Amino acid sequence: MSDRALYLTTPIYYVNALPHLGHASTTIMADAMCRYRRLLGERVYFLTGTDEHGDKIAQAASAAGVTPLAYADNIAAGFRETWRRLGITNDDFIRTTEPRHEAVVQDVLQRLWDAGEIYFGEYGGNYCYGCERFYTDKEIVDGKCPDHQTPLTFIKEKNYFFRMSRYQDWLIGHLEAHPDFIQPERYRNEVLGFLREPLLDLSISRPRSRLEWGIPLPFDAQYVTYVWFDALLNYVSAIGYPDGALYRDLWAGGHAEHLIGKDILKPHGVYWPTMLKAAGIPLYRRLNVHGYWSLGGGKMSKSVGNVVEAFQLTDKYGHDAFRYFLLREMTFGLDASFSEEALVARLNADLANDLGNLASRATTLIANFAGGAVPAPGALADEDTAVAASFERAVRAVALAMDDFAFQRALAAIWEFIAAVNRYVDATAPWALAKDPARRERLGTVLYTLGEAVSWLGVLLDPFLPDAAAKIRAAVAAGTPTLVDPAWGRLAPGARVEKIAALFPRVDTKAPAVPASEARPAEDRITLGDFAKVDLRVAEVLAAEKIAKSRKLLQLTVRVGSETRTLVAGVAEHYVPSDLVGRKVVIVANLEPATLMGIQSNGMVLAASHEATVSLLTLDKDVPAGSRVK
Ligand code: MSP
Repeated sequence: MSDRALYLTTPIYYVNALPHLGHASTTIMADAMCRYRRLLGERVYFLTGTDEHGDKIAQAASAAGVTPLAYADNIAAGFRETWRRLGITNDDFIRTTEPRHEAVVQDVLQRLWDAGEIYFGEYGGNYCYGCERFYTDKEIVDGKCPDHQTPLTFIKEKNYFFRMSRYQDWLIGHLEAHPDFIQPERYRNEVLGFLREPLLDLSISRPRSRLEWGIPLPFDAQYVTYVWFDALLNYVSAIGYPDGALYRDLWAGGHAEHLIGKDILKPHGVYWPTMLKAAGIPLYRRLNVHGYWSLGGGKMSKSVGNVVEAFQLTDKYGHDAFRYFLLREMTFGLDASFSEEALVARLNADLANDLGNLASRATTLIANFAGGAVPAPGALADEDTAVAASFERAVRAVALAMDDFAFQRALAAIWEFIAAVNRYVDATAPWALAKDPARRERLGTVLYTLGEAVSWLGVLLDPFLPDAAAKIRAAVAAGTPTLVDPAWGRLAPGARVEKIAALFPRVDTKAPAVPASEARPAEDRITLGDFAKVDLRVAEVLAAEKIAKSRKLLQLTVRVGSETRTLVAGVAEHYVPSDLVGRKVVIVANLEPATLMGIQSNGMVLAASHEATVSLLTLDKDVPAGSRVK
């Protein structure tokens, strides 16, 4: 096991609403990071949870006519269940209403009080209930909260204050000495920007007369703890601060990193480090800040009017596709736009086409030409070593990208590798090698290279597409996934390979203008007996090539049961030959042979056509070639 470690946290989410796109996006990023670092053999601890005190929750509960705790119980259970369904691998789930948390909050407050870091005073200011904080005049935009664009409430009351102002210079010094304390840099600069203005003391209590729902101050029961002061401490209470083993290893050992959205930068970049400093707790190592999703753009997205509806697309298109879109489409730190159309475009292009086709082509070629067992490689040609080099480049690029939480760069690097392997299949044309017994060894090397490439995808993709990666690993058995020593060539010759059918089925994006049913007049109808004369069969495409001098025709070699036949199909303008290899299509098997461009065609491939679109009939479940279609 590596001696590197990561303790990664998400924000703890408010329980006034069910999980939505925004929460899912942060939690998925954290999960991808934790899965990746586990692949590297590191000790990883992943925390998420719920933030259950404060005005917001009290108001939502009272609107629902239940107690705040009953309300929180229900939504917290919803968050847990959602993360379980999405395959999130968090090690713990903290709720701020748990005794283990409340005890730590009271302990830290008491120590700060005893040390003179907290005093009693009066403050009047503009408060946003949505953010649960006061805004300074400079921060207010058009008299409203800059985040929620809602009017602020002027509140003046006596409260307890944390002497945050004392730590302004210290925090500036820390940010200057540790350039990656907050990343990406734009957010570090934003915090340095806040710190150019005088830093005020922080009100850390609310009078109980106004708000009951919070943790009582240990030194004044008339007050409850301000929700941010309470919530931030979850990051240490969950791991057994002050003397639990996890706390000592992960926090005191300097492995703690936070992942948040840009909306909560100030509490995490200013309140939290100063609180830690005042309480004598070591600082976190790094704060990682991502941008915000906005909704809009595209025709289909009309249906996606809010973040809850956006989140429902995870069920419509599958967890992996949703997760991939979130990780691939957002440049870490910047805002991104979410639309159903963009998600489907990524699904079709990157997942169904690039990845899905590669997995299916490679495994089908091994199944068809090597009996489903990876052959031993022979002498390596330049094109084979180029694939290995492309893999090694991808592994290095992923490592660099993941250091910055740049998921989109990591995925782009993996997709460069996928593209390289797809080009390799086209260039080496294993279906052509298979026709020539003298090229058996070369065929073996090519198929080995493909098996190795796909098996590594089952590892490299695990953080990003956990379900698909597991399917790949199940089909190309290659042991426990690990990136500890990612050396090319670990697949043992003879390893079994199963065909991977549709890893990601394409989503039809054209709202099809369904042709009006052109029912035939009664006298044109045929009997069942007439129809039974047509022998329709499932055929597997073993090889496909263009026919010289023909724009439209492809020559296909297909297997129907134990028989191999040649067919000519008029689909050259709609399909690239190599994309057909491995597919199962439907043919008319008992048609009189016909000669087209000098080639005898023994049967006809069925395809549907509408305007310029031609679509081959394929099967939605796998059945053996030769099966009857009726
Ligand atoms: N309870 C506080 C956090 C306390 S942490 C000690 C809170 N909760 S929240 O439910 O409002 O969650 C905010 C977080 O949800 C953001 O920081 C971000 O991680 C995520 N997102 C919510 N909406 C989002 C988008 N539209 N886009 C991206 N992420 C967003 O704040």
